[in-house]
Amino acid sequence: MTPAQSFSDGPIRSIVLRKDEDGNISTSYEDTSVDPSFLGEGDVLIEVGWSSLNYKDAMALEGNPGVVRTWPLIPGIDAVGTVIHSSDPRFGRGDEVVLNGTGLGENRHGGYTQRLSVPAESLLHIPFNFSAQQVGALGTAGLTAALSVNALVDQGVKPEDGQVLVTGSTGGVGSIALHLLNKLGYETVAVTGRREAYAEYLTALGASDIIDRAELGGQGKPLQKGRWAGVVDSVGSHTLVNAIAQTKPNGVVTACGMAQGPDLPGTVLPFILRGVQLLGINSVEASRELRRRAWALLSEHLDTSVLDDMTTVVELADVASAGADLMSGKLHGRTAVRVH
Ligand SMILES: NC(=O)c1ccc[n+]([C@@H]2O[C@H](COP(=O)([O-])OP(=O)(O)OC[C@H]3O[C@@H](n4cnc5c(N)ncnc54)[C@H](OP(=O)(O)O)[C@@H]3O)[C@@H](O)[C@H]2O)c1
Repeated sequence: MTPAQSFSDGPIRSIVLRKDEDGNISTSYEDTSVDPSFLGEGDVLIEVGWSSLNYKDAMALEGNPGVVRTWPLIPGIDAVGTVIHSSDPRFGRGDEVVLNGTGLGENRHGGYTQRLSVPAESLLHIPFNFSAQQVGALGTAGLTAALSVNALVDQGVKPEDGQVLVTGSTGGVGSIALHLLNKLGYETVAVTGRREAYAEYLTALGASDIIDRAELGGQGKPLQKGRWAGVVDSVGSHTLVNAIAQTKPNGVVTACGMAQGPDLPGTVLPFILRGVQLLGINSVEASRELRRRAWALLSEHLDTSVLDDMTTVVELADVASAGADLMSGKLHGRTAVRVH
């Protein structure tokens, strides 16, 4: 009997995405213990306690082909759980672990299931000062915010260099980035389309000023007044181009997302006339060392009460409707998914 089979007796509740012959997509909440292939493949079998809801998960739950690369698929790009069995010496039974990205919920079964085999290579022990729920709440968005902030710091952006702009600021990446930057002593300015509802929230996360999303969302001049020492962008398109055009000489811009769009309708002028640097952030394939450093940053600087205040918990059975809410702008901060 393989380790996977020995733990597949009893129901395993999972969310499964399927596409029929006519291309119709369905999402079901079901017992997948009947089919061992739903346990996935990897060196470490975990009992998943928590996952999270990210923008990419919401896209997957809509059946977006840019995210869902194989059918049927258990979505969920994050998995936080307890090791049941490991053939990798770095992990033992009972260890609490987290895996973000690495194809989970895209080209291999993800965290919206109670039991999952995962690859050891990108698996990490959860930080000692976080609960499994908090690690689930942070999820890929928290990891990505930390990767972005570490990238700014690594490129030499210092608090005394000036303000850092954070776009998509009420969202997962934006909220955590604002908070981390604030804790590191940076002055931040938040861009949001929901100023009226969330001004207080953004100010509490440390934003010293708030800019309406519409101000950056359209075509702007190729070079604008230099205002930002750094930018954390999760929005792309015109917003990113305007943010780059407003970055001070030798400033650094990180780009991780495309909530406005995947296009980059700008010019090279900020790069060649101001030495602005544009850094791409890819959490899915980030090296183990980058992940370790990002989680260390979160562990050291994140105030867990701030995280708890911005966290909504949804049950696994309800994640599809929560995904629709995220896509229609009804959520903010982070959404943790209770799996077990
Ligand atoms: N590269 C990576 O590894 C990586 C990792 C994580 C996330 N991402 C990407 O980063 C982006 C944000 O992810 P998330 O999890 O933070 O999502 P999220 O929680 O839904 O936040 C996205 C935010 O973007 C803003 N926004 C939405 N539609 C917009 C539009 N049309 N124009 C301008 N702003 C808009 C909203 O903020 P306001 O209401 O405050 O304006 C929204 O809260 C997504 O594109 C996601 O795929 C990439």
